[in-house]
Amino acid sequence: MTGLRIAPSILSADFARLGEEVEAVVAAGADLIHFDVMDNHYVPNLTIGPAVCAAIRPRTRARIDVHLMVKPVDALVPLFAKAGADIISFHPEASEHVDRTLTLIRENGCRAGLVLNPATPLHCLDHVMGRLDLILVMSVNPGFGGQAFIPEALDKIAAIRQRIDRHTARHGGEIWLEVDGGIKTGNIRAVAEAGADTFVAGSAIFGAPDRDGGYRGVIADMRDQLQRALPVGRPA
Ligand code: DX5
Ligand code: ZN
Repeated sequence: MTGLRIAPSILSADFARLGEEVEAVVAAGADLIHFDVMDNHYVPNLTIGPAVCAAIRPRTRARIDVHLMVKPVDALVPLFAKAGADIISFHPEASEHVDRTLTLIRENGCRAGLVLNPATPLHCLDHVMGRLDLILVMSVNPGFGGQAFIPEALDKIAAIRQRIDRHTARHGGEIWLEVDGGIKTGNIRAVAEAGADTFVAGSAIFGAPDRDGGYRGVIADMRDQLQRALPVGRPA
């Protein structure tokens, strides 16, 4: 299958050597850099902000995929756009005015994404499909790397795939379907078969032992699994 993207989450990288880590993971075959922003308010953890995004921007031409786990959202959008973000996504629970925030992201020259937690219902997508470039399905509760994949996410991915296909058939455009949390070589194929096209992996990539080929080895294994995935909508 073509058009499938692997997005390593730098949350699990060595922060003391972040620039080199970004270069290494892109050289190893990453398509995007997934950038997790946590504020100790919307989620119980604290990570990195626009200054770090600006610092890694010159290190790669790969798109920077900013996942905002912050509340409120809007003030950070222009700051991340200026720092070189290509995609900015946020959680609908964290913005008082979801439509306005999506518009703001596009006005700042970035692609706009909405993130659905495991318990977030699909109706939050109802009136905003035309403003979306990406839907990010959380397959863990946000806040930490290294958690186990929640299998109920697969049905949700399949339902969203249908919505996206219906929408693009009627209105055109392109909406990526990204999945984040607990993705490994052992489950990435099932996630693709459910209908995802973009796969975030943090601990699985940055925790890969050198003896197994390091980042390059695990990304190659993931692509190999993706090659074997059955076409979406045609389960075995
Ligand atoms: C969790 C983050 C994820 C996380 C994924 O809140 O949004 O991007 O880094 O890490 P793994 O792949 O280890 O679950
Ligand atoms: Zn994330």
